[in-house]
This record gives sequence, C-alpha cells and structure tokens, in this order.
Amino acid sequence: MSAQASVAPAPAEGAAQAAPFEPVIIGFTCNWCSYRAADLAGTARTKYAPNVRLIRLMCSGRLDPTFVLKAFSEGADAVLVTGCHPGECHYIEQNYKALRRFQLLRRTIEALGIEPERLQLVWASAAEGVRLANEITRVTEDVRALGPLNWPAGEIIDIDGVDLEAAWEATGGDEAGPPEIPDGVAPDGVAPDGVAAGQSVEAPR
Ligand code: FES
Repeated sequence: MSAQASVAPAPAEGAAQAAPFEPVIIGFTCNWCSYRAADLAGTARTKYAPNVRLIRLMCSGRLDPTFVLKAFSEGADAVLVTGCHPGECHYIEQNYKALRRFQLLRRTIEALGIEPERLQLVWASAAEGVRLANEITRVTEDVRALGPLNWPAGEIIDIDGVDLEAAWEATGGDEAGPPEIPDGVAPDGVAPDGVAAGQSVEAPR
C-alpha cells in the first residue's frame, strides 16, 4: 500500500499573484502654485507615483472640509492638500485658513477612526515641480504602508451634517491651538486684484 503524498501542489507557472495595494489619493491643488508645480513636473517628465488624482481649486482656502470627508467616504485612501507657501497666497492669507482647516480635519478624522496621516498638507510653489513630485511619492508610500482605508462613512455619519467646530470642541482642541487668522483677511473667494475666485474652479460643487 503506497503512502499518500501530503505535499501541496505547486502553483501553476504564470499563476496570477495577488495585486499589490495601490492607494487612491485625492489631491486638492491650488491653481496658482501646486497645480502649476504638478504641470511643471509633467512637462519636465519628472516621475511621481500615479496614485494621486488632482483636483484644482483657485486657492487652498477654497477647500471645503466636506470635500475631504466626501473623498474618504467615496473610496479615497488618503487626501493631499497643497497650496502656496505661507506668505505667498494670491488671496492674501487664505492658505492660513487652509492650515487651520487641515488641523481641524486631522482631529475630526481621527475621532472618526481614520489615521490622521491619511490627510497630508504640502506647500509647493509653481517652481517646485520636483519637490511636489517627491512629496506625492512620499505620501503614496506612507499610505501604502497604512493599507486600504475602506471607510464605511455612510453608516457612521451624515457627511453634510458634520460640524467641524463641534468636533474640534469635542476633542478639546489642539494644545497649541489653531493658528490665528490675522485681521484684514480677504473675504472668501475675492482676490486682492478683484478677480472673483471660482471663475475656473475645477472642484466638487
Ligand atoms: S494657496 Fe495658492 S492662492 Fe491661496
């Protein structure tokens, strides 16, 4: 009587391997700096991870917090917010508003069970194509290490009903506190030169 072989059959040559995780990253860019930096990177054929889908805003200050939550709820593994360096915003100091919202959002998503590292902020001027490309690749690798998000937001919250200020209060606020927005900040959507922001915004409405 011959013994039964207990060795598992070898996989057939050429059998399909599990596909590596490729994160989906939504990148909100400022028309005047980071969007142009991405364009510059493309023109110069500077390679960066193809995982990011760019959405152009007129300014990082245009970033509505619901854009970020909607991105997560619809399958994004991470969100990258980019804008002009502090002091270089074309709408005076709206990028400080973006910074404040970024801080609020990191606290909020953490309270919702999402690693805060899944939301990143990068300043990049129009001339910094290589730097932006490197940052996109870095963020992609960071998110790849975190793994897929699979956030079932629809079962947890009503996106439109999120009250970020209330969430901020609930977390006790940041020890350092959000940056103060100086007096004299231009109202939303109005550039110093009188050009109405939103004329060519390519963003969720
Ligand atoms: S962040 Fe670029 S114009 Fe405001």
